[in-house]
This record gives sequence, C-alpha cells and structure tokens, in this order.
Amino acid sequence: MEMKKVCVLGAGLMGNGIAQVCAQAGYEVTLRDIEQKFVDGGMNTIKKNLGRDVEKGKMTPDQMNTILSRIKPMLDLKEAATGADIVVEVVIEVMDVKKKVYAELEEIVPKHCLFFTNTSGLSITEMAAVTGRPDRFIGTHFFNPVPVMRLLEIIRGHQTSDETLETAREWGRKIGKDVIIVKEAPAFVVNRILCTMLNEAFFVLDEGLASAEDIDKGMVLGCNHPIGPLALADLVGNETLLRVVEGLHRELGDKYRPAPILRKLVRAGNFGRKTGKGVYDYNKQ
Ligand code: CAA
Repeated sequence: MEMKKVCVLGAGLMGNGIAQVCAQAGYEVTLRDIEQKFVDGGMNTIKKNLGRDVEKGKMTPDQMNTILSRIKPMLDLKEAATGADIVVEVVIEVMDVKKKVYAELEEIVPKHCLFFTNTSGLSITEMAAVTGRPDRFIGTHFFNPVPVMRLLEIIRGHQTSDETLETAREWGRKIGKDVIIVKEAPAFVVNRILCTMLNEAFFVLDEGLASAEDIDKGMVLGCNHPIGPLALADLVGNETLLRVVEGLHRELGDKYRPAPILRKLVRAGNFGRKTGKGVYDYNKQ
C-alpha cells in the first residue's frame, strides 16, 4: 500500500527536521505539538533551513514553497493523526508520556497506520505493548541535525513484523537516509557508544583534567570529530543525554553512571543550545 500521509508528533529539534525531510520527499505532513509556540518554533526552523538552501542555490524559491505547502502545522492531535499512513512520534523521552500518546492515537488512526517512534533509547517493545498493533510498531532513531545527518537507525521491537521493517526501511531510503537495522537493547547501538563517550567527557571536565574548550579541541584535532563531545552534548541537549545515560545506568550497571556535572547542568536548566546555555554560553556568541 502506498504511504502518503505522515503525521509527526513533536515539533522540537528532531520533529521539525523529520517533518522537513518527509516533505522534501513528497509526503503530505502534519506537524503537531501541544503549544502554539512549539509549532511556530518548528516551522520557523524549517523555513530557516530551506531558506539557507535557496540562498546557496540548492533549491529554487518555488521548490521551497512547494515543500512548505506540504507541511500543515497544528495543535489538535485528532486533526493531525486522522488518515495518517505513518505516525512518527517524537514526544519527550518519558515512557509514560509516550504510552499515553499511543493510547490516544489508537482511537484515531486507521488500521493500516504504522507507528514509528523516534526514541534515543527507550524500549520499543514496551511502547508497542500498549497499542493494538505491536506488529506495526518500530523504532526509527534519527540524528541531529536531521536534514544533515545521513543515518537512520531502525530498531525492531519483539513483535514488529517483517512487513513493517521493510516499509520503514523503504521510507528511510525515500527520505534520503542510510539505514542500519539493530536489535532492541538499552540505547541501541549508536547512542550506547556515543552517549557513553559524551558522559566520559563530562567526567573529564569534572575532574579538572582540562578546560571544556581543550577537551573539545582534543577530540576534534586528535580524532577528527566534526565537533567536540561537550559541544555535541549542547547540540543534542544535555537533558536528553542525561536521560539516555540514566537508562544505560539503570539497565546495564555502574559502568554507565552519569557524571555529576552533567546532572548539575540539567538541574540548572542549562540544556545547551536550545536554552542558550549549556557547557558553553550561546548568548555571548
Ligand atoms: N539544520 C540543518 N542544516 C544544518 C544545521 C541544522 N541545525 N546545522 C548545520 N547545517 C548544515 C549547514 O547548512 C551546512 O550545509 P552545506 O554543507 O550545504 O553548506 C552543513 O550542515 C555544515 O554546517 P556548517 O558549515 O555551518 O558547520 P559544521 O561544518 O560545523 O557542521 C554539523 C555542523 C553538521 C552539526 C557538524 O558539526 C556535525 O556533524 N556535528 C556532529 C553531529 C552529530 O554527531 N550528531 C549526532 C548527535 S547524536 C543524536 O542526535 C542522537 C541522539 O539520540 C542523542
């Protein structure tokens, strides 16, 4: 069956990027969030990203307008999800919140609709279990910034069908991503390795071994990373990083204990670029 309508739930950092790449691939998209300011923020980011491509001559203003016309921003869940072929859920990384959204969705979407969850590390199987369609439920983990990063990590839950896996793989290809298929496990594959490294950078900072700038410079110049681990934590969001590391700690043991300074930053509300302050102060730049 041809998939035409994609409903993206959550217009934040990842959600607006997913809506953008879906619209660029020709899908009709609804982009839903719970407050007007989040929806507006998401649409503004998409306009800014596409505008940059127009300035660089990568697309024409007409192409940009066509892409934008495919995205319908909205607040009402029922309106957004009615008739969806695929729902990509990108709400906050809290299991109970995600489960509540799925319970509501189940009453709205058509029977054939697939549920794709963008989670940094929560159990796909646990979320799928609260729906009436665990066979049509799969994890699609994107990387920030979504329009730039090529990878899509696809995670199969315990009951995900082969058909759903193949549809998700084909959708990933259509929206311009390279796919890897991984088994369900805490934080999957990429975040298990990446977030452990970012957490270690916070331990190094806490121990006073070097300044934040020098830790980042070390990893950029010594390992050819595009940006340093602390700058990357600010890009991803320190609160998101902490949640992933807490999950690893809970499920895999003490080796994954979160760095105290990371916890402190989150308690202070210093989430990174999105709040203007994280390890670095973005209001100064
Ligand atoms: N949205 C869209 N496009 C963006 C962008 C954004 N937020 N930021 C940068 N770009 C584009 C730029 O327009 C530019 O495009 P062109 O090549 O067409 O000119 C390109 O990306 C490079 O940007 P810049 O030259 O401005 O800056 P840069 O070379 O430093 O690249 C970066 C920026 C792509 C973010 C780069 O620093 C990078 O790759 N960093 C690592 C990102 C990473 O590791 N992401 C994974 C995070 S983990 C995660 O997301 C999963 C999770 O669950 C925690």
